[in-house]
Amino acid sequence: MSGAAVIPKAELHIHIEGTLEAEMVFDMASRNRVSLPFADVEDLRARYAFSDLGSFLELYYSCMAVLRREEDFADLANAYLARASSEGVRHAEIFFDPQAHMARGVPLGVVVDGLSAALGASASRYGMSSGLIACFLRDLGPQAAMDTFDQLLAHSSPIIGIGLDSAEVGYPPAMFTDVYARARAVGLHCVAHAGEEGPPEYVRQALDVLHVERIDHGVRSLEDPALVARLVDDQIPLTVCPLSNVRLKVVGRMEDHPIAGMLDAGIAVTVNSDDPAYFGGYVGENYSAVADGVGFDGESLRKLARNSFDAAFIDHSLRQRYVDELDGAVG
Ligand code: HPA
Ligand code: ZN
Repeated sequence: MSGAAVIPKAELHIHIEGTLEAEMVFDMASRNRVSLPFADVEDLRARYAFSDLGSFLELYYSCMAVLRREEDFADLANAYLARASSEGVRHAEIFFDPQAHMARGVPLGVVVDGLSAALGASASRYGMSSGLIACFLRDLGPQAAMDTFDQLLAHSSPIIGIGLDSAEVGYPPAMFTDVYARARAVGLHCVAHAGEEGPPEYVRQALDVLHVERIDHGVRSLEDPALVARLVDDQIPLTVCPLSNVRLKVVGRMEDHPIAGMLDAGIAVTVNSDDPAYFGGYVGENYSAVADGVGFDGESLRKLARNSFDAAFIDHSLRQRYVDELDGAVG
């Protein structure tokens, strides 16, 4: 990883379940006595050749069967925080999929308490600030999202916001109008995956109907010039995940990734890792990959890092502290 890749930054699009490395899958399977449909780590890693989002999600949900106890979630989050801090991450907003665990019989409290135990120590252990964002699985529909939201509130879950993930096409954001309205009413931040595999219209809906503050992915927005103009005018941050986009065939090769044009157009682009255990790299590797692939220089990488702090759900003084550190960093 080049020095520029470890500049101070925030990571705003990371699924904690997507940091479940193959070795952890086998360690946790053995300690929890879960049998796996893979022979060994090598066999599992050989399955990381995805054709699209759906083929990834199948493996992603199958591997998370090993996460059963509070300490599994805490260990997972701690491993991510350690890795992220070594790659210059000062602040992380971390997605989790409560429904994917509850559907397997893992109580919401086990998930949330395990994750928040790790995040609660992130400042003292890793010098990082952090927050949790609960994502709803759009393919389970709006009622399931609403029920999950009720349970999050009943558990007084320490979340900073809500998001929307899983299979995109066929599940437009407007399906989730009610749960987003409720989340906004209780002061939660709102984000949504849109425009990864879905059309620009889904990005518009996420903005107009769900009133999200950021769009996760959003790369297909480029197909609609009027939408691009709006993203620029309103400075709506996009949490772009370059290695993910290549692995899930949203773009052909890193050299073809449109991120340089997005930055040049004035879109508030950020770079993130999505599901780093599956896509070949954490956030530093994503910075390196765009630096090498599209020829970003140090100034462009600093702009991406600056955008990440500007787009983070943090207060003014913390943002200023991180920006000052970035301004003082060499590389
Ligand atoms: N898209 C949608 N759902 C997801 C993703 C993604 O990239 N990663 C984990 N869940
Ligand atoms: Zn994602």
